[in-house]
Amino acid sequence: MTEPNYDPSPHDSAVSGMFGAIAGTYDFFNRFLSFGIDIYWRHVLASAVRLGDTKRVLDLAAGTLDVSLAIRRNYPQATVPAIDFCHPMLARGLHKLAGADGRSILPVTADAKHLPLPDASVDCITIAFGIRNILPREEAFAEMLRVLRPGGRACILEFGSGRERIWKGLYNFYLTRILPRIGNLFSRDRTAYTYLADTICAFPPAVLFEDEMRSAGFVHTWYRKLTSGIVCLHVGEKPL
Ligand SMILES: C[S@@+](CC[C@H](N)C(=O)[O-])C[C@H]1O[C@@H](n2cnc3c(N)ncnc32)[C@H](O)[C@@H]1O
Repeated sequence: MTEPNYDPSPHDSAVSGMFGAIAGTYDFFNRFLSFGIDIYWRHVLASAVRLGDTKRVLDLAAGTLDVSLAIRRNYPQATVPAIDFCHPMLARGLHKLAGADGRSILPVTADAKHLPLPDASVDCITIAFGIRNILPREEAFAEMLRVLRPGGRACILEFGSGRERIWKGLYNFYLTRILPRIGNLFSRDRTAYTYLADTICAFPPAVLFEDEMRSAGFVHTWYRKLTSGIVCLHVGEKPL
């Protein structure tokens, strides 16, 4: 892993520090708080990946590397630069890299808004549960479009807007009342799961997020809601 390539903003420092504090329990709480459905969501994301001539898929906000590994399982010929600005999150995933799949996953500590990659150097980009944390999003979109080859795909998995009522409000009650309490009870960082609920509620509905992607310059955009819209897969392409 390389060292950070950027001078972090207060927001970036706070987000990175928060993920650093929960890195040790991140995977466990992901499975537990989502009742295991997160594995399926990441599988759907990896299935949207399309490989081209570079055979490189950039996994952004890669965290503990589950998406990077899912990409390699679907595309054994792919090389996967796995970028995250939180070193402890990447470090926590390193033990998963034993074996052939792991050798083609290249963890790098860097900011999604300042990617250490040349122009048009990757076929596809994935980002799971990361874009919600990045401000301003336009800067990340601009970098994604810079490093994608023309015609390349960005596949963005993110929670739907928590403001939309799901399962007659049962999910919203779980998100805003139950989940932060369970997270605060067991996690070392008491703010992390309140932050999770707050950022999900502040995130735009799918149709507006698609507009953002189009305004940033992506074409052929579409989205697919998963699990009644709790999560949404967004796809867009760099123009040819
Ligand atoms: C909720 S975790 C998701 C991790 C992984 N993609 C997954 O599916 O489990 C969000 C990750 O985004 C990273 N992140 C947030 N903002 C970032 C930025 N500006 N640049 C790089 N990584 C960022 C955090 O450090 C954290 O590891």
